[in-house]
Amino acid sequence: MQYRIQRNCDKIDWQTVCRVLQEAGLAIHPIELTRKAFENSYCVVFVFDNDLLIGVGRAISDGAYQAAIYDIAVLPIYQGKKVGRLIVDEIHKDLQKINIILYASPGKEPFYSNFGYYRMLTGMARFNNESKMREKGFTE
Ligand SMILES: CC(C)(COP(=O)(O)OP(=O)(O)OC[C@H]1O[C@@H](n2cnc3c(N)ncnc32)[C@H](O)[C@@H]1OP(=O)(O)O)[C@@H](O)C(=O)NCCC(=O)NCCS
Repeated sequence: MQYRIQRNCDKIDWQTVCRVLQEAGLAIHPIELTRKAFENSYCVVFVFDNDLLIGVGRAISDGAYQAAIYDIAVLPIYQGKKVGRLIVDEIHKDLQKINIILYASPGKEPFYSNFGYYRMLTGMARFNNESKMREKGFTE
């Protein structure tokens, strides 16, 4: 299947982005904050099937040697069709020779192992909503 890939935020419907994130089970934020997060990111990926937004992803970076990936999400009915791979491959194109960190949704670590990611031994996080993140399995 040939999907359309958009690498900028032009004419993106942020409500739809929120819906994709929500349907994929990721944390969602108010529409304006979501727009700000994507617009302020180093790179973004939006995947469309015709006019339907089916997948999103983004990374923040200094553009020199460090980056972090966030919000990789594929609509449930499109999961398992290589859309997630497409999104991560696109992000990697912009992050060559740059260290990339991420925290996977609990249980989704094997998806990232496919791309050469390893568990970090010293990764630490200071989450805004610490107790909720612990409940969800992100911290000890
Ligand atoms: C995780 C997610 C992004 C993967 O996207 P996808 O389109 O379903 O995955 P793909 O079809 O592109 O799979 C790519 C590769 O990863 C593997 N893979 C996909 N999901 C996997 C999983 N949960 N565990 C292990 N491997 C997985 C596939 O087998 C495939 O391997 P291959 O290319 O060697 O055959 C998608 O399922 C999703 O949106 N999930 C809900 C939200 C989420 O958890 N996002 C990640 C946040 S950290």
